[in-house]
Amino acid sequence: MEIRKVAVLGAGLMGHGITQVAAQVAKCDVSMRDIKQEFLDKGMGMIKGSLQKFVQKQVISEHEMNEVLGRIHPTLDMKEAVEDADLIIEAVPETLQIKKAVLGEADKYAKESAVITSNTSSISITELASFTQRPEKFCGMHFFNPPQLMKLVEIIRGAKTSDETVDTIVNISKKMGKETVVVKKDSAGFIVNRILVPALNEAFSLVWEGVAEPEDIDKAIKLGLNWPMGPLTLADYLGIDTTLYIAQVLEKELGAKYSPSPLLRQMTRANLLGRKSGKGFYDWTKK
Ligand code: 3HC
Repeated sequence: MEIRKVAVLGAGLMGHGITQVAAQVAKCDVSMRDIKQEFLDKGMGMIKGSLQKFVQKQVISEHEMNEVLGRIHPTLDMKEAVEDADLIIEAVPETLQIKKAVLGEADKYAKESAVITSNTSSISITELASFTQRPEKFCGMHFFNPPQLMKLVEIIRGAKTSDETVDTIVNISKKMGKETVVVKKDSAGFIVNRILVPALNEAFSLVWEGVAEPEDIDKAIKLGLNWPMGPLTLADYLGIDTTLYIAQVLEKELGAKYSPSPLLRQMTRANLLGRKSGKGFYDWTKK
């Protein structure tokens, strides 16, 4: 199925970036929906900031930037956002209750032919699909932060996802300039977070056990493994609470070997969440 119009639900850290990529690279018309005007304004501000970086680097011209902005329609109205969309990408907070409400509402107003996807980092795709009346036209579409720069989209099959839905999402992801991998079974953490989150968790354990300083752990992994960011910087960048949440899902679904480090819980309770709260392992207020 050809995707011309996209609706992105959520204008936050992931939603704004996905909106931008769909409008900038795939050249789709995109409705970006959130529940408060201030969230939409913040999302549009981040999109403009990112587009300006691309203009400065001459990746796109000023004229192209304005064309991209012209293809993006911020809205508070769910019906308006989804009623003509061929593809709906849910990128709301990682809470089952919020996702359930948003997916149910989107499904109600969406055309029969529309495919619905979720950018969830860890919630079961089969469970999310059950909140809609179209589990065969539903799958995971997992982008990586920041979506404007990261090359991968993980496409996750739910128990009832059709082959046609997977093909449609592979094709539109490629049009967005992304490489894809298909996750054949709906298993917690999919591929990337199943490997990444235990690695980040080990870095927290090293700090908790007093084995090394955070700066040295980051330096070791950056220089020893060629990661662009050390694991503790990356956890700060993604959100310590988000990392804890994913670790808890892995533990619940896959067993005690994935249980989160006490330091992950402690930092989350202390609101040391990294970039989003201004402080985690590092001070982000000056960056
Ligand atoms: N839009 C446009 N340009 C951007 C941008 C954005 N949103 N963010 C950064 N840039 C540009 C910067 O302006 C900079 O340009 P310059 O080279 O001309 O100065 C360039 O990208 C590089 O940025 P920085 O200098 O700030 O920093 P880095 O060189 O470290 O690159 C990075 C930034 C691409 C984020 C890199 O550090 C990186 O790849 N980090 C790892 C990210 C990662 O692992 N993401 C996946 C996390 S897992 C996930 O998302 C799954 C989830 O479910 C948890």
